[in-house]
Amino acid sequence: MKGHPFYPYLEALLQAATLAQGIHAYYLAKGFTQGTKSGPTDLVTQADREAEEAIKNLLLSRFPGAGFLGEEGGGEGGKALRFIVDPLDGTVNYAHGFPFYGVSLALEVEGVIQVGVVRDTARGETFYALRGGGAYLDGRPIRVTERAELLGSLLATGFPYDVAKDPENLTYFARALRRGLLVRRPGAAALDLAYVAAGRLEGFWEVKLNPWDVAAGWLLVEEAGGRVTDLEGRPYHLGHRYIVATNGCIHEALLRVLQED
Ligand code: IPD
Ligand code: CA
Ligand code: CA
Repeated sequence: MKGHPFYPYLEALLQAATLAQGIHAYYLAKGFTQGTKSGPTDLVTQADREAEEAIKNLLLSRFPGAGFLGEEGGGEGGKALRFIVDPLDGTVNYAHGFPFYGVSLALEVEGVIQVGVVRDTARGETFYALRGGGAYLDGRPIRVTERAELLGSLLATGFPYDVAKDPENLTYFARALRRGLLVRRPGAAALDLAYVAAGRLEGFWEVKLNPWDVAAGWLLVEEAGGRVTDLEGRPYHLGHRYIVATNGCIHEALLRVLQED
């Protein structure tokens, strides 16, 4: 793995994850100010903003020519190489002390995600992947499960903050529940994807996620042997409205349930 051309970037992203973890822990202990973004439940805390600033400074001082896209500060296009970062995925969980949140960091090169790191900053677990180099949890290789039955598989989904205005995923959620499927709504999409990669979930889908939510987790699932598509089974691309990520074995069956009339 050390011979992988993007290994130095993996090392830097792991350092950035540690920086974010320190900032998340610091503000959790000390208390933090918070505000709202698109609506009253779309929160942003001091931890989101400071983690992004610290990650950006670290990565751009190490790799000065790179671009940077972060949830809080946005970013500019046009760079062959860019970092895609969600400094705190699961902000609502974090703000309530519900321990399911983390940081998501990816390196995109010429439009292709090459490195992905998701750190659960509450538990301290680190999921990472290098394209062509496999997926790992705290240094041990991870694989998706081989469960082929959809019924009895454990699934997760999530909802955008404006779900009341854009309730499309309520339809898919209801279809899954009516079939008796086991569905969770953990509240941190990057970790949901990492859990598919690690074999803790068989599948995950969501509507309207942003590149920073999925860039790292998408690579994790593929490198762990899983499949990531849109709702129709076409290959996923960043910015797509729909993402369906599974162990591969249940993929077609899940797509059929989500699409049924
Ligand atoms: C949110 C989480 C959540 C998902 C939302 C995202 P944030 O990200 O990933 O699980 O359902 O759509 O916006 O705001 O906590 O970074
Ligand atoms: Ca997010
Ligand atoms: Ca976030």
